[in-house]
Amino acid sequence: MRIDIITVLPELLTGPLDHSIIKRAQQKGLVEIHIHNLRDYAFDKRHTVDDYPFSGGGGMVMMVEPIDLAISDLKSKTGYDEIIFTSPDGEMFSQKMANQLSCLKNIVILCGHYKGVDQRVRDHLITREISIGDYVLTGGELAAAVIVDAIVRLLPGAISDEESALTDSFQDDLLAPPLYTRPAEYKGWKVPDILLSGNDREIEDWKIEQSIERTRKLRPGLLDE
Ligand code: ADE
Repeated sequence: MRIDIITVLPELLTGPLDHSIIKRAQQKGLVEIHIHNLRDYAFDKRHTVDDYPFSGGGGMVMMVEPIDLAISDLKSKTGYDEIIFTSPDGEMFSQKMANQLSCLKNIVILCGHYKGVDQRVRDHLITREISIGDYVLTGGELAAAVIVDAIVRLLPGAISDEESALTDSFQDDLLAPPLYTRPAEYKGWKVPDILLSGNDREIEDWKIEQSIERTRKLRPGLLDE
């Protein structure tokens, strides 16, 4: 898979995407992540990428031309399945969407900034808008990092224990069951007896019951879906 990210703040992305599973996935050649500075596509000396809105009012707007130049440049070298824009107005990101995106070959993520983006970017250049939640971030970079992290860990081979990504919370619309490790007792806080019983079938049943119970308690909405 190849992921190209267009941003005005590359430094916000290099750190988060250069650690642990995401770093290893790149080293193993499972994913190539390329970060591009939108300012490199600005056509004036000051590398301007935003301007005042025609409608007046506060806030700057990301200009269409540098974004078009950046996306056209990428498209001239690679075919893309989706050109994603991160925005609080977008479709809500979910595990299901992460699964779908992880099956694509090449994607671009354009990080939103300032007050918004010229509508012509949305109308003509973007294929999908994604929000990571109903709150407003300073920019789309952290949202892009979240989206990339959730996608890359799903790529076959990214996680050494084949099972782990499939048993994550949300993969079957249930929260994951609780986990314990040694010691079996700490300060009188005990690991449930069943987990020490060695009875694999009963342990599996317990995990499912616990998943349902936790979901009912913490995220009852998931059980309605
Ligand atoms: N940019 C600002 N807020 C955002 C959000 N909640 N999701 C995605 N991109 C954003």
